[in-house]
Amino acid sequence: MKIIGTGSAHPTCAVTNQMLEQFLDTSDEWITERTGIKERCVISSEKLEDMAVIAANQALENAGLTAADIDFIICSNVVNEYVTPALSCIIQGKIGATCPTVDINAACAGFIFAMDMAEDKLKCKKAKNILIVCAEEPSRMVSWQNRSTCVLFGDGAGAAVVTEGDELKAIRLTTSSLTEVLYYQRSLEPTPYISKEENFEPLVMKGREVFKHAVTNSCRDIRKLLNETGLDANDIKYYVLHQANRRIIDSIRNFLGVDEEKVPHNVERYGNISSAALPALLDELNRGGKLKKGDKLVFSAFGAGFTTGACVIEWAKE
Ligand code: UT7
Repeated sequence: MKIIGTGSAHPTCAVTNQMLEQFLDTSDEWITERTGIKERCVISSEKLEDMAVIAANQALENAGLTAADIDFIICSNVVNEYVTPALSCIIQGKIGATCPTVDINAACAGFIFAMDMAEDKLKCKKAKNILIVCAEEPSRMVSWQNRSTCVLFGDGAGAAVVTEGDELKAIRLTTSSLTEVLYYQRSLEPTPYISKEENFEPLVMKGREVFKHAVTNSCRDIRKLLNETGLDANDIKYYVLHQANRRIIDSIRNFLGVDEEKVPHNVERYGNISSAALPALLDELNRGGKLKKGDKLVFSAFGAGFTTGACVIEWAKE
C-alpha cells in the first residue's frame, strides 16, 4: 500500500482559550500549560459531512484521481448526527462515487485501523484505489459545562487516498478493553420493555489514566515497529503522532530520544480532533512541502477502547 493523496478541513469557528474563560472556570494559562492547546475549531453552521467531503475531494485531487477511480471508501467516525446511514454513505453520494463504503469506530486510532483494512483489501485485489476519510465532531460529545473535557477537543476531517504499493513497511493494532477510562453514552429511544436503569453521560475521561496509557502504549508500539523494520529512531523523518495533548507528544518524544523537529504538531491550533488528527497533520506536512519521496514516517495514535495503532510508511509522492 502507498499513500498518494491527502486532504483536510476544519470548521470556521475558532474558539480560543480566552473565549472559554468567558463561561468556564478555566484560564488560558491552565489550558496552555497542561495541554499546549491555544484554540480549537468547532462546528457551528457547517455540518460534519461538509468537512468530510472537502477533505475527501482534496485528497482525490492531490492523488490525481476522480471519485470514479475509487473502489472502496472507509470512514472513521465516532459520532455524527446520524446513527444510520453510515457517514461513508453520505460522503459517497456527495463526492459522486459509486463504490461500496463502510464506517469504522476505533476512536482516535481510526486512521491506522482504516489503513490496515485498506492494506488487506489491496492485498486480496478486492480494490485498487481506496479513500479513507476520518471525520469527527467530539465537540458534540462533551459537556460544555465540564472544564476537564470540553477544552481539549475540536472538530474536523482528514483524508487520504491509498493504492497498491510497497510503502507500508509495518503496522500494529491493539485493543485492550478499558472501557471505563474514556466513554460517551448517548441516549436510545425508550421502549415499553425497558425497565432497567440507563445512564446517558457526556464524555467521561479519567485524564491521568488516559495520559499514562497513551504514552506507554505509543512508545511500546513505535519501539516494536522500529525493531521489526530494523530502523533506528533517527532514521525516521517525522513521527506523526495523535494530537491529543502537547505534553503527551513531548513525553513520547523524550522517551524515544528524538529531536523536536522530527515530531510535528498542530494540537495548539486544533485541539484533539480524534481520528482526523493524524491525516489532517499529514496533509499539512504534504501541502507544506515537508515530505520527500523515500522519507520514512511513523504514525502512532491511541484512543477510547483502549485502542492503539501505529505504522511505518515510506512517503511515495514526489
Ligand atoms: O484521545 C484521547 C484523549 N485524551 C487525552 O489524551 C487526555 C489525556 N490526559 C490529559 O491530557 C490530562 O490528564 C488533562 C489535560 C486532561 C488534565 O491534566 P492533569 O494534569 O492530569 O490535571 P487533573 O485532571 O489531575 O486536574 C488537576 C486540577 C483539578 O483541580 P483540583 O481537583 O486539583 O482542584 C481539576 O479540576 O485541574 C483542574 N482542572 C482545570 N482547571 C482549570 C481540570 N480542567 C481544568 C481546566 N481549567 N480546563
